[in-house]
Amino acid sequence: IPDHYEAALSSVLIPHGVIMDRVEKLAKLIVQEATGPLVVCCVLKGGHQFFADLVNYIKKHVTRGGKSVPLSLEFIKVKSYNGETSGDVKLSLTDEECREFHGKNILIVEDIIDTGKTMVQLLTKLRQYNPESVKVASLLIKKTPLSNGYIPDYVGFAIPNAFVVGYALDYNEYFRDLDHICVINEHGKEMYAV
Ligand code: PRP
Ligand code: MN
Ligand code: MG
Repeated sequence: IPDHYEAALSSVLIPHGVIMDRVEKLAKLIVQEATGPLVVCCVLKGGHQFFADLVNYIKKHVTRGGKSVPLSLEFIKVKSYNGETSGDVKLSLTDEECREFHGKNILIVEDIIDTGKTMVQLLTKLRQYNPESVKVASLLIKKTPLSNGYIPDYVGFAIPNAFVVGYALDYNEYFRDLDHICVINEHGKEMYAV
């Protein structure tokens, strides 16, 4: 834990090594189930670390398994949170860029499903462009009464209803530079308030 975050955290929920082991297992499963080219789509910003590690492990297991799974990489910026409140989803891709999804097998890579609003809205948008298939890998799914019931195809960990940061998950843009997934404390929320 870097010094600048020490006092802001109440606990380490998932250590980096445990995250990496789980990401490798998910990559293996994704490779096993893949039937051809995949468009791996990173949901920025929170998804970037999981995306980077997952793609690396997918490459490793494709090579080992002697499978043919060419990857193309796509990046979508989605923003729904201001502090802790989830609102409407803003998508960064143009109509033209989205048309590239037609007929493709898409794997969306996200850091966390909280209320599920972001993913449901994103899926609704992407499906309008008639991809062949859309699957979702989310590192985390939060157990919360605010959930809309959405469950991704691949899940790393189900976590309790706490505000977690690290491994690219942020609180007001901070804590993305933390390797472990941690629970932020009240002091941390004050320290990094906007
Ligand atoms: C967070 C998180 C997910 C989404 C989950 O993103 O990374 O994308 O919220 O919340 P939901 O299930 O309640 O919709 P955020 O909007 O904070 O943007 P960021 O990824 O750039 O931090
Ligand atoms: Mn996000
Ligand atoms: Mg965020």
